[in-house]
Amino acid sequence: MNLTDPASVLAVIERERPDLIVHTAAYTNVGGAEKDRSECWTVNVEGTRYVARSANAVGAKLVHISTDYVFDGQTGNYAEDDTPGPVVNYYSLTKLVAEEAARAAERHLIIRTSFRPREFAYPVAFSDVYTGQDYVDIIAPEIALAVRHALEIEQGTLHIATERKSVFELARRRKPDVQEGTRAQAGVTLPGDVSLNTGRWAALKAQWSAQ
Ligand SMILES: NC(=O)c1ccc[n+]([C@@H]2O[C@H](COP(=O)([O-])OP(=O)(O)OC[C@H]3O[C@@H](n4cnc5c(N)ncnc54)[C@H](OP(=O)(O)O)[C@@H]3O)[C@@H](O)[C@H]2O)c1
Repeated sequence: MNLTDPASVLAVIERERPDLIVHTAAYTNVGGAEKDRSECWTVNVEGTRYVARSANAVGAKLVHISTDYVFDGQTGNYAEDDTPGPVVNYYSLTKLVAEEAARAAERHLIIRTSFRPREFAYPVAFSDVYTGQDYVDIIAPEIALAVRHALEIEQGTLHIATERKSVFELARRRKPDVQEGTRAQAGVTLPGDVSLNTGRWAALKAQWSAQ
């Protein structure tokens, strides 16, 4: 489907009539979003609105993939019910508003997460950006587990990430010769510490493993 075309989104969802929709698509180029605001807004906010409406049309639950960037990065260890914002870049603004669009789905679960490709792709990694993000081969199975249980997870928001560390520390795990840098070198404003409190996720997993 083309997310920016509401008829296309509704047609696919009405044809498939799923119980669960996992909405992963987005405009994800954080730097590009500063110049390309209209496209980023249309895909992330309007696209999510069309998916939420279509979910309601067939009674499906919507799992919406969001980001740790909805927080300002001043304190870190953010819990699901901490107040988000103010966001520090345009991509983050659209993802924060997209969460509200997703909440228009009568049944929804918003997963805030963060991940990188299996290999660290850059020569430099920032030591003053703290995160709970991890490599996709570590995060994806966690998200898959949440998706398998999504119909039974209580409505709301869920953080899925690993422990707090700097991006430099994370990068060194798979690219030992990566150079240390600072976020002032990024072409876009990045939040300082968007590490997530994952207590809710840990409690859910403990509950399932006890069953
Ligand atoms: N990567 C991260 O660090 C990170 C962190 C936190 C949250 N997230 C969130 O996780 C989700 C997945 O991220 P990702 O890194 O896997 O993104 P990605 O690799 O950029 O993939 C985004 C997908 O969205 C699709 N898409 C874009 N515009 C579309 C449109 N108009 N209609 C239909 N499909 C469209 C793209 O399709 P084409 O390839 O055909 O363009 C692509 O398959 C996103 O919601 C993102 O915001 C990512």
